[in-house]
Amino acid sequence: MPRDGPGGSVSGWARCEDLCPDGSLLQSLPLVFLIMCSFVEYKCYFFFQRWAMAEGYGACLINKPELVRDMVRHVRNQIDNPRFSVSIKIRIHEDLKKTVDLCKKAEATGVSWITVHGRHVEERHQPVHYDAIKVIKESIQIPVVANGDIKTLKDAENVHHLTGADGVMVARGLLANPAMFAGYEETPLKCIQDWVDIALEHGTPFTCFHHHLMYMMERITSKQEKKVFNVLSSTSAVLDYLDHHYGVCS
Ligand SMILES: Cc1cc2nc3c(=O)[nH]c(=O)nc-3n(C[C@H](O)[C@H](O)[C@H](O)COP(=O)(O)O)c2cc1C
Repeated sequence: MPRDGPGGSVSGWARCEDLCPDGSLLQSLPLVFLIMCSFVEYKCYFFFQRWAMAEGYGACLINKPELVRDMVRHVRNQIDNPRFSVSIKIRIHEDLKKTVDLCKKAEATGVSWITVHGRHVEERHQPVHYDAIKVIKESIQIPVVANGDIKTLKDAENVHHLTGADGVMVARGLLANPAMFAGYEETPLKCIQDWVDIALEHGTPFTCFHHHLMYMMERITSKQEKKVFNVLSSTSAVLDYLDHHYGVCS
């Protein structure tokens, strides 16, 4: 089951032209394309989406199938190993035929698989169009990965059933429970302990350390506990809290 890390590449905010004005960066670093591919969908996630779209970032790339095709082709041409994976992640058009057309073009150009977040570009919290993912899956031969609103392992199974997709991708559900695919319904303490160990070992900045814990503890803490935990402002305060309340040690 392919898994796409939810952290994404925030640092990778750039247009294709910025990244490879003459293709040179792509020549030396084809993997950049994997980051750029996420732009097909990613930008629509943020509040400044409108100007980002106007600038040619993010989800608007689904309206430029020829550009996507050229990007994929360019990467493919740079890599000798035909088994090297190149994938794209997209949202869907209101006119699904356009999405199917985009996917077919991408497939013909050598994309290894396509991840589909089943929402239109403008949609935020509306239900995910799993039926559209099913149509896409039935229209192409390469694997399709379904994405959107999967919060539990049961959701993953349902989405697989509804779409026939070859895999699922989860973002927010894994932030809330990184052990979801291991079958846990909520974040186990062992997982919190692991995150503390990893974060301390790597010198993770406090905000990142703390925010991940807030997500992970969302379902296992009361409103009152959140009020205290979420305003802690130093690593030592967080470690003291975890030790005192959960026996998680540093
Ligand atoms: C913290 C965070 C970072 C994300 N980064 C990216 C990204 O770099 N590229 C991308 O295509 N989507 C990104 N997304 C969007 C997700 O990949 C996903 O399409 C969206 O959150 C819907 O899936 P979900 O319901 O499982 O969260 C991000 C989402 C979150 C919450």
